[in-house]
This record gives sequence, structure tokens and C-alpha cells, in this order.
Amino acid sequence: MDSPENLQISLADWERNSAAIRAVRNTVFSVEQGISETLDFDGRDQDCVHVLAQIGESEIVGTARMLPDGHVGRIAVHKQWRGQGVGTQLVEYLAAVARDRGFAEIHLHSQVQAAEFYSALNFVARGEVFMEADIEHVLMVRIL
Ligand SMILES: CC(C)(COP(=O)(O)OP(=O)(O)OC[C@H]1O[C@@H](n2cnc3c(N)ncnc32)[C@H](O)[C@@H]1OP(=O)(O)O)[C@@H](O)C(=O)NCCC(=O)NCCS
Repeated sequence: MDSPENLQISLADWERNSAAIRAVRNTVFSVEQGISETLDFDGRDQDCVHVLAQIGESEIVGTARMLPDGHVGRIAVHKQWRGQGVGTQLVEYLAAVARDRGFAEIHLHSQVQAAEFYSALNFVARGEVFMEADIEHVLMVRIL
């Protein structure tokens, strides 16, 4: 098996890469977390900046997106590749894109179970816990 040393994070294009992006999100959000595909694929993907994490020549292991207003989301890493920095690199890549575009901050709706992951990436929770897709979430903001 290839090691994460072969990890590459790159910008993706929704038209060209939607099959790869959909495959990761379907596995993580739909199959693993039971989130409906209708909620996941909300019609906003064509407006987003997308990133893909790839190991070696062709294995897509993760993805994330950012809406035009700096809302980061849909961060998903295949289970077998977690805990090796893939999620961190996806978020840092999008933060760098946002910084280049002159954004002062980025924000996201963190599942409460993932809040520690984002805290470690300098996101700070704001406001009350709320329900989204039947899962507890909290708004988190990172000043760039
Ligand atoms: C959340 C997720 C994207 C993190 O990806 P990852 O590649 O495992 O993240 P990293 O390896 O970069 O993790 C960095 C650190 O955060 C920790 N971490 C990762 N996921 C975490 C979680 N859900 N809760 C708490 N800590 C977490 C890691 O253990 C690691 O800690 P360390 O530096 O002390 O070793 C991944 O677990 C995932 O796809 N989960 C399912 C989908 C999901 O919940 N997405 C987020 C929706 S808001």
C-alpha cells in the first residue's frame, strides 16, 4: 500500500471531478453517517472551490469544499486514511485559497464530534449547538 508520503492535495473542478468527489462523500456521509444524499448534494457544489486528497497515482482518499462566502464544508476522509494528516491538509489548503482571495476569516458548521479536530486547526466555536441533518453542529470560525 502507498504511504501518506505520496499524499497530494489539489484543486478540483466539479464538472471534471464530480464522480471522485461524490464517491468519497457517499461513502463517508451517506453510508457511514446516514446523511441523505439530497442533503449532502445540495445544489451548491458547482459554486464551490473543491479540493481532493490523492495518494499515489490514483487513489482518492478525501475531499472538502468552500462556498463563495468562505464557508468550508463536506470535509471527508476515507476511514482507512484517517489520523494521518489528510483532513488537516485539506483544511489548510482551503484556508490558503481563502487567504489568497483576501478573506479575513473562514467558517464552518462542525459536527460536535469533530469540534476538537477544528479547534486544533485554530477554529473557535461561536454560539449554541444546533441540529443539521439530524446531527449536532456548532458554528466555528477561523481568523486568517
Ligand atoms: C474529521 C475528519 C475529516 C478528519 O480527517 P483526518 O484525516 O482523520 O484528520 P487528521 O489526521 O488531519 O487529524 C488531525 C488531528 O485531529 C484529530 N481528529 C481527527 N478527527 C477527529 C474527530 N472527529 N474528533 C476529534 N479529533 C479528531 C486526529 O486524531 C489528529 O490528532 P493528532 O494530531 O493529535 O494526531 C475525518 O475523521 C472524517 O472524514 N470524518 C468523517 C466525516 C466528518 O465527520 N467530517 C466532518 C464533518 S463537520
